[in-house]
Amino acid sequence: MKKFIKRVLLGLVVLVAIYGVGRFIDVAYGSWQFVDRQPYLATQTQNSMRIKWQTPEPEIGKVAYGLTPDTLTNVLIEPTGSKKHSITIPRLKECTQYYYKVISSSLNIDNNGRNFRTLCEKKEKQRLWVIGDSGQVGANQREVYAQLYKYIKNDYKELDMWLLLGDNAYSSGTQKQFNKTLFKPFLELVKRYTPWAVAGNHDTRRWAFYDVFDFPANGEAGGVPSGHEEFYSVEEANLHLVVLDSETISRSSDGDMANWLRKDLARNTKPWVIVAFHTPPYSDGGHKSDNCWDSRGRLCDMRETFVPIFDEFGVDLVLSGHSHGYERSKLIKNHIGKSDTFSKNNIVQDRKTDYTKSLKEKKNSGTIYQVCGSSAKLDGATYNHPALPYSLKEMGSLIIELTPTTLTSKFLNIDGKIADEFTITKKEEK
Ligand SMILES: [Fe+2]
Repeated sequence: MKKFIKRVLLGLVVLVAIYGVGRFIDVAYGSWQFVDRQPYLATQTQNSMRIKWQTPEPEIGKVAYGLTPDTLTNVLIEPTGSKKHSITIPRLKECTQYYYKVISSSLNIDNNGRNFRTLCEKKEKQRLWVIGDSGQVGANQREVYAQLYKYIKNDYKELDMWLLLGDNAYSSGTQKQFNKTLFKPFLELVKRYTPWAVAGNHDTRRWAFYDVFDFPANGEAGGVPSGHEEFYSVEEANLHLVVLDSETISRSSDGDMANWLRKDLARNTKPWVIVAFHTPPYSDGGHKSDNCWDSRGRLCDMRETFVPIFDEFGVDLVLSGHSHGYERSKLIKNHIGKSDTFSKNNIVQDRKTDYTKSLKEKKNSGTIYQVCGSSAKLDGATYNHPALPYSLKEMGSLIIELTPTTLTSKFLNIDGKIADEFTITKKEEK
């Protein structure tokens, strides 16, 4: 009998080991498999732009750029040959439009319409396009994108920034899936905009995410240097945008991310603060923020650790995805418990569309929470969270428009209708 038990145990150990090795090979293959990739913009700053691409054969990478499409007279050449290319164009002028092309001998590069603008210190109007959980190819993804294109009247120059709220590549964030779900369908965008991509749980099932994207860990794009690609700021004109990683690193209140966030927000001088991360602090969509087992506790962690920081610094807008629907709060504060603890004391302004705040950032001045995880798919859900009265089981994306004193966020649904909209106006304090 003892022998038999021993044999069974040994068999189990062998099975677990085989599974472990198989799983490692699968994860490593998805993470490191080499794929060709058309050139795309990586880190954008006020005075530089990085361009990355991958060619089937090792070669010396070459980028030509200039101030008009006909004067691409500046040429940068990589020092050594490789299949993976990254060229940073330095010493650019702030807030300036440039045109570029990439030259390759082994990849047929689509150089049509390649241009970018460096980040602006000042700009009267800004427009962001925000998509969440967009990494599933098909008619839904295409139609949500088509509605943006219609909204900007087929003119990409009408858009300033592109933010992705995570789960950008289903189902596992492999190199191949990033090509299929992001670089191919959004090629015209990645030619012109840095994809400020938030890490989602599906993206981080493999190790490709932080290889595909380069994020400004050293404060290159504004804000306090974080020393981590997982969390950083990007500043343009009236906006201080903070990106956090709710998936892969410590979410504790004395962790590196929370400590950096406090420092970064304390030093901010821009009128509008938007914080983006994948897993929402409040949701009654496909994921439930009342269930601290949901997503291994990440919804509860993000609420309990980070909402007090958002309150402390009067963050204006918090954007998340993960639940595949649309959910939105009023201007609220101090709600870190479950939904049954939400009361009118948490509501700063009990209105639907028009909110006001002081131009001087103020503790507990209220934050609006928006979940937009329906840019390619939809969950069946109840949408009964009392903090999120404006919730829709609809696919779509967000258009966020900023001026020095107004922030307007619109949920542009898949049918081209603005299905929800609000404006925060900031005024001088009397
Ligand atoms: Fe997710």
